[in-house]
Amino acid sequence: MTEAILLVGGKGTRLRPLTVHTPKPMVPAAGVPFLTHQLARARAAGVEHIVLATSYLAEVFEPYFGDGSALGLRLEYVTEEEPLGTGGAIRNVASRLHSGPDEPVLIFNGDILTGLDIRALVRTHETTGADVSLHLTKVTDPRAYGLVPTDETGRVTAFLEKPQTPEEIVTDQINAGAYVFRRSVIDTIAVGRPVSVERETFPDLLSAGAHLQGMVDSTYWLDLGTPAAFVRGSSDLVLGRAPSPAVPGRCGDRLILPTASVATDAKLTGGTVVGEGAFVGEGARISGSTLLMGAVVEPGAVITDSLIGARSRIGERSVLSGAVVGDGAVVGADNELRDGVRVWCDARIPAGAVRFSSDQ
Ligand code: GDD
Ligand code: MG
Repeated sequence: MTEAILLVGGKGTRLRPLTVHTPKPMVPAAGVPFLTHQLARARAAGVEHIVLATSYLAEVFEPYFGDGSALGLRLEYVTEEEPLGTGGAIRNVASRLHSGPDEPVLIFNGDILTGLDIRALVRTHETTGADVSLHLTKVTDPRAYGLVPTDETGRVTAFLEKPQTPEEIVTDQINAGAYVFRRSVIDTIAVGRPVSVERETFPDLLSAGAHLQGMVDSTYWLDLGTPAAFVRGSSDLVLGRAPSPAVPGRCGDRLILPTASVATDAKLTGGTVVGEGAFVGEGARISGSTLLMGAVVEPGAVITDSLIGARSRIGERSVLSGAVVGDGAVVGADNELRDGVRVWCDARIPAGAVRFSSDQ
């Protein structure tokens, strides 16, 4: 049975302040650490053994997932002393793999929410006899990703990570962050130093004439690397637009975890999640947002497309849209926080302190 490596060692810088205390894969999406969805989807595709390549805040993974038996998996953890980059992380866990030299090994970026047919990617790998097969997706603006042009047979012709110039934007096909490697290819990556699989391994393999195969599809795909994407991914899981066997409850307009408390006239829509022990007061209106554990939304607050950190508090009548509030922060009453604002963990914003509109 195919085994997998999950890359979960990144710093999650673009998601700060949510990743100040929590590594990106452990931030809850639809009520459970995001990684749970990826693990459950891999298990559903028949994967039984997964090695987690950890680095940043590495110590939190194992206490939560343990040996993986609760998910029907055998999980192992390997921590890099210093971050080794994506390729170095893959090489660093190779000794934990059981696959033979010609067998396929799955590798996943740890921040991708997708409907990828994992078995189909392995089948593509096997039928084409590729050295590495890559899941590809099409996006309107590819600049933040790895560009992967292919020929008419799907064979990869180049790999351009985060192109800097307009001339480099040769395709709208990007690396979707899931690969199948022939095991022996993993063993060729340099040991003991940082290696980027995107900037070094893939280009080197291509210039050495290796066969890299792309599999393009149009299934759901989202990189949860930014606050806006993370909150959309969480809502899409709740709404059932993004597939996962690990959503704790029925899909619908909202997900209220068992120990949360929501006033009867509060309105929760658009895939909003109310985390464990969180509280929503009378007349609050929350849409497309995620409230983490123990967050408090006071009466009359209006929250749209926002991420509200653990144990933070949003004051009465405050209006938040496209905002991130870090763990333990307090936003006083009658504030207005919009598009892209990040309130840091434990910060305090006094009542009526921040406005976008001239008057209310
Ligand atoms: N163990 C370990 N060590 N993991 C790492 C390290 C490291 O040093 N650096 C990054 N990772 C993990 C991250 O945790 C994440 O799961 C994954 O590797 C990719 O890193 P990101 O920081 O999220 O990269 P990106 O989103 O800018 O770009 C990558 O993903 C795109 C698709 O979303 C690249 O693979 C692009 O080519 C791709 O298009
Ligand atoms: Mg990413």
